[in-house]
Amino acid sequence: MDTNSLRKDFSFLKDNKWIYFDNACQSLRPRQVVEAVNDYYNNYPICAGRSNYRLAIELQDKLNKVRQQTAKFIGAKKESEIIFTRNTTEGINLIANSYPFKAGDVILISDKEHNSNLVPWLLLSKTKNIKVEIVKTNQDNTWNWEFFDQKLNNKVKMVALGITSNLDGVSIPFKEIIEKSHKFGAKVLLDGAQWAGHYKTEVNKWDADFFVFSGHKTLGPTGTGILYGKESELAKLQPYQVGGSTVADTSYTDFELLGVPERFEAGLRDYSGILGLGAALQYLDSVGWSAIDKQEKELTKIIIEGLKKIPEIKIIGPEESDKRNGIISFYHPKVDSHQISILLDEVANIMVRSGRHCVHSWFNARVIRDCVRISVAFYNTTDEANKIVKELNKIIGVFI
Ligand SMILES: Cc1ncc(COP(=O)(O)O)c(C=O)c1O
Repeated sequence: MDTNSLRKDFSFLKDNKWIYFDNACQSLRPRQVVEAVNDYYNNYPICAGRSNYRLAIELQDKLNKVRQQTAKFIGAKKESEIIFTRNTTEGINLIANSYPFKAGDVILISDKEHNSNLVPWLLLSKTKNIKVEIVKTNQDNTWNWEFFDQKLNNKVKMVALGITSNLDGVSIPFKEIIEKSHKFGAKVLLDGAQWAGHYKTEVNKWDADFFVFSGHKTLGPTGTGILYGKESELAKLQPYQVGGSTVADTSYTDFELLGVPERFEAGLRDYSGILGLGAALQYLDSVGWSAIDKQEKELTKIIIEGLKKIPEIKIIGPEESDKRNGIISFYHPKVDSHQISILLDEVANIMVRSGRHCVHSWFNARVIRDCVRISVAFYNTTDEANKIVKELNKIIGVFI
């Protein structure tokens, strides 16, 4: 991959002023995405579908094409299995609130889920008498089959797991998890927020029941997302948000819902965002998964190996760089995490994130205050990876 030439597509990277290592929060957008968003506002600033003038029909065609393209991008069988959402969080909430759970049903999640894959289930447990069970991971945050096997039984109706953790970049053996869960009749919802922009997704081949991701973590516009549901699973859902765009007809006492997926897309959609998302997925396809993986692995290795040499630093998750990818979190017992991130920004224009990264539950359970998170993307360079290691050495050296 020619990183320097790809970087020219990202106006934010112009002049190499900033070093952006907060990709787990949002990725940057190439010019093609910005152009697709602008195309909407400049040339189609109208409603799709609801009107019959030619431009509205043309816009609807473009949106339909993005749905088809998304289905292909994640390996879904049909475009009707694709629902446009605002983000991963909305996709998970849609399932939590629309799936026909019954009192006594169990939801299995792991002990390091993002709040977006924890709180919707906890809320459900308070309102519907559903039980949320936690599968512990190993001390180094890798998957533990023994704990999973102990928790998996016929009462489990949904296994909801992040494929790649936003805490440490560790991925779970999700294909085997799906296979095992199905043997017990449980459905599997995969949170692909940290996966979809980095690896090839094949929902049909994997036999995943639900898959969610965010457009803004896959080069797309802010506030865009996708929920995939297997056709047979979507048919079971009772929409929890209804109104305009979800119904074929209404009277003062009743309504007739549209089919899938329209019944799940209440209200006017983010047309510009969807068009931008289409451009983003096309861009990722053109870069190619093996090139993305190679670059991100190399960056991860440089950073992990560099961090390991800093005295007393604690790396969250496995220390072997090949057991994780793209996300490297650490803390230092003698230096405040926020101070580190502020200094990286002020001294070297390097953007990272400090805090608990929406995995408060994990930090509380392990009694760790917070950490610094470095998250890479394919447009980051090895020079940038070496630079952050050098700057961290300097900053931490001042305090210890
Ligand atoms: C693993 C994981 N799940 C869910 C989310 C929530 O994503 P969003 O805020 O786009 O809904 C994130 C965001 O960082 C995440 O990393």
